[in-house]
Amino acid sequence: MCHNGNMLFQLILLANVVFFGYASVNGCHPRLLKDCYCGLVYQHTDNSPHFVVNCTNTGFHNTSMLEMLPEETEWLIFTGNHIPVLDSNIFGEDAILNKLSVIDMTNNGIREIKGKAFHKVTNVKRLILNHNDISISENDKENFHHPRVFSNFYNIEELHLTNAFADNTGDQVTQDLHDIFVNSNLTQLYKLHLEQNEIKSFKDSSIFCDLPKLHDLHLGSNVIQSINFNIDCIKMIRYIDLEQNNITKFTQKDLDSFDRATKRNTAGLRLNINGNPFKCDSAVKNLYGWLVQTKVNVDDKFGLECHHARYGKKYIMNLKNFADAKNARMSKAITVLLVVLTIVFISLVAGFIYLRKTSVKNKLSPIFNSITRKVHYTHIESQDV
Ligand SMILES: *[C@@H]1O[C@H](CO)[C@@H](O)[C@H](O)[C@H]1NC(C)=O
Ligand SMILES: *[C@@H]1O[C@H](CO)[C@@H](O)[C@H](O)[C@H]1NC(C)=O
Ligand SMILES: *[C@@H]1O[C@H](CO)[C@@H](O)[C@H](O)[C@H]1NC(C)=O
Ligand SMILES: *[C@@H]1O[C@H](CO)[C@@H](O)[C@H](O)[C@H]1NC(C)=O
Repeated sequence: MCHNGNMLFQLILLANVVFFGYASVNGCHPRLLKDCYCGLVYQHTDNSPHFVVNCTNTGFHNTSMLEMLPEETEWLIFTGNHIPVLDSNIFGEDAILNKLSVIDMTNNGIREIKGKAFHKVTNVKRLILNHNDISISENDKENFHHPRVFSNFYNIEELHLTNAFADNTGDQVTQDLHDIFVNSNLTQLYKLHLEQNEIKSFKDSSIFCDLPKLHDLHLGSNVIQSINFNIDCIKMIRYIDLEQNNITKFTQKDLDSFDRATKRNTAGLRLNINGNPFKCDSAVKNLYGWLVQTKVNVDDKFGLECHHARYGKKYIMNLKNFADAKNARMSKAITVLLVVLTIVFISLVAGFIYLRKTSVKNKLSPIFNSITRKVHYTHIESQDV
């Protein structure tokens, strides 16, 4: 009995190795994809299995194997390779990839994306190009500057461009991104990640106006100094991440546009402004009062910090504590002022009375006299009775 059980167990083990062992080691039929993994992978993001082709750290220097992508591919994970140039038609002329919904090309040292690099990507919903060195050159129209680089992604919902661009291209990135947004017809784009791209400002304030469905805008870890982009035109905006930037203050206009955004949307607006070097004094003047009463959902609003210089030293303070202390000092000052004013007033009145003592006495003496007399008479009358 025990022996039979053991045999059965070993058989199952063997079947596993034969069946799934091969599948998990490779599972990719095309020879060029032999270093990748191909097969169903259960995804926690939507609780269902997807056919994944996963070429992570496979040491590829070109994308020729992507022309062999199986038709059933739903997710393409192609990360940690070394692909300086994404050539035109990376999936080949004859590709049929109707099921492809996710392309992840993180960390491939991509410097250049040729026009039409991506095609047959009608159903892709998520494109990830994080941690690359994509450069923008005004002279080279075949470069990322090519304004229709994302134009075949008709149904794209998420674009991840965290640390995607070459260093020191922050300014140009924002300039060119607007061209790209205008020309690429990204009508379904819901989520846009642009963190860690050294973005200082936006030359064109309408940069995000051509993304009619944009809900989540991630601009964290840049060096943005002020909100010089139009928020009113992003009709569906629901979350703006401005964490870890270089914002020293918000204008009343900025705060009003956040308020308008929260009114537009049933879910309201969520805002992350942590880790910015707000100036304490100006933050107390407008930001703090706004934070206290706004309907905008500001992350950790009473944990916000501000920068204060005193006696040539710089301090980082909690904004709420700073504002409360300032208010306390203010009401103390007002109390002291009131007390001083009251004392001054009383002294003035006393001084006035003292100075006019004689004249007052003179004016009052006839009344005193009459009263005394009256009392006298009354006294006599009562004695009469
Ligand atoms: C792809 O493979 C890498 C390395 O084996 C693994 O860490 C990663 O989770 C895989 N990704 C997916 C989506 O299966
Ligand atoms: C692409 O890379 C593979 C190895 O990954 C190599 O065998 C092939 O020759 C390369 N193709 C081109 C066009 O460079
Ligand atoms: C933009 O995309 C929508 C569908 O998302 C489509 O109806 C429209 O024709 C496209 N416009 C252009 C100029 O490609
Ligand atoms: C942040 O802004 C200040 C001016 O407010 C500027 O002097 C500084 O260089 C900026 N920092 C970065 C990293 O751009």
